[in-house]
Amino acid sequence: MLGNHFLHALLALCVALTQLVPCLARSATGDRALLVFDDRVDEIAQYSQLIESLRTQHGLAVDTVELSDKAARVDLFNRDIRLYDHLLVFPVKGKHFAKQLAAKKLLRFTEDGGNVVAVTAPRVASDSVHQYLNQLGIYPAPRTQHLVDLVSGSDVIAAASNASLNAHVYSDAALVFGDSVSPALLDNRPQIIPLVQASKSSFAVSANKTREQSWTQGAQGYIAAAFQNNQNARALWLGSTQALSNANFAQNAQALGEMLKWTFQEKAVLKVTGVSHAHADSGLSYDQLPYKVTDDVVYNISIAQWDGDAAQWAPYVADDVQFELRQIDPYYRITMHALGADPRDATAELYSTGAFKMPNRHGMFTFATDYQRQGVSYLSEQDIKAIRHLANDEYPRSWEITNAWVYAAAIASVIASFVGFVFFFVTAPASLSDGFTDDKKKN
Ligand SMILES: *[C@@H]1O[C@H](CO)[C@@H](O)[C@H](O)[C@H]1NC(C)=O
Ligand SMILES: *[C@@H]1O[C@H](CO)[C@@H](O)[C@H](O)[C@H]1NC(C)=O
Ligand SMILES: *[C@@H]1O[C@H](CO)[C@@H](O)[C@H](O)[C@H]1NC(C)=O
Repeated sequence: MLGNHFLHALLALCVALTQLVPCLARSATGDRALLVFDDRVDEIAQYSQLIESLRTQHGLAVDTVELSDKAARVDLFNRDIRLYDHLLVFPVKGKHFAKQLAAKKLLRFTEDGGNVVAVTAPRVASDSVHQYLNQLGIYPAPRTQHLVDLVSGSDVIAAASNASLNAHVYSDAALVFGDSVSPALLDNRPQIIPLVQASKSSFAVSANKTREQSWTQGAQGYIAAAFQNNQNARALWLGSTQALSNANFAQNAQALGEMLKWTFQEKAVLKVTGVSHAHADSGLSYDQLPYKVTDDVVYNISIAQWDGDAAQWAPYVADDVQFELRQIDPYYRITMHALGADPRDATAELYSTGAFKMPNRHGMFTFATDYQRQGVSYLSEQDIKAIRHLANDEYPRSWEITNAWVYAAAIASVIASFVGFVFFFVTAPASLSDGFTDDKKKN
């Protein structure tokens, strides 16, 4: 009895302890991070809480480079080997920076699978970061303009807890952006994931008194946006440095933490662990018995999702995973059923089409799953197989086809009436030809 109580108390203590220690999330791609900043723009000490959280909550090994020092070098690659998994760029200025962190270099980093967090702010012309963002389709306002909202009655731009435009990236947490926000226009390409929209009553104003045209007006502008390229590398753009500073960190920790988790690939990362298809009736695979037209086939796919908090893969459950059978155009687009954890691999969810009939057409067919949803990794699985036509002894025989019975009956009746006629002609009595003589013919 006593032992039991003691065990319970010990267990409760363990649970309490694990809740106290901040949980450490892990990236699915790596933990090497580089933070680039410029002391002339902002003292890095203002962001100490953010940097601390990168180390403790996100489990990153953070290197920093301070760019007001002319000798500083930013090396993202050693020859062709990428040196970092994640890059954070704060607003920086000057020619030295433009050379060290050229837009081309940033693009190459993204194309190679690196994740980027880029922060822009009014009054700082980080040209190469702007050029890089423009390549992604994010167009931050020029440095002379910042966002104001005259109706809200406050200089501080904030987002309500229900402002998130994509729940995969972050949801249900309010954000404060401060009074120096650079809004952006977004392209409508599908890789861009808008996160926070400017309010309807806000607009960009020019800091100096020229009659410069507003970069954004109302809900046209965005304050935060994400980007995921076709290789699933991620980028996050924030239009405000104040959102990350210690002054607002406690308020923003929840939403920012979620955004950073998404960008560092700690969540919403999917992978396919298995694809199979087979005859629906016999269960034989294509290799054992190639499909022919009108065969019944079943297609399965298993999808896992990275859970950064537990540092393991877990089943990904959704109701919009579709299978396509294509030959140039899709012949089928079937929404698959989630059947629970895959019996062969419990970390993945099994999806199945159920039995479907191959179309009555032979040729090369693609068995494809193209799962492209904003906010989660894109999945694309294709398997090309040749579907044969029927061999000449595989067609149904005529007597199996009820439609043919009419014609078969017609043929049978012609044969029968011919035989009947001949029989009748041969056996008919001579009396039928009475009254005819050969005499007439001799005339
Ligand atoms: C968010 O919440 C506020 C206040 O509860 C409400 O007025 C607003 O309509 C909500 N916005 C959306 C997009 O649901
Ligand atoms: C004001 O804005 C204009 C237009 O962008 C720019 O050319 C000019 O240099 C700015 N003036 C100051 C003092 O920043
Ligand atoms: C697909 O999944 C179903 C349900 O678990 C299973 O019965 C069937 O054998 C699977 N088929 C293939 C081809 O893996």
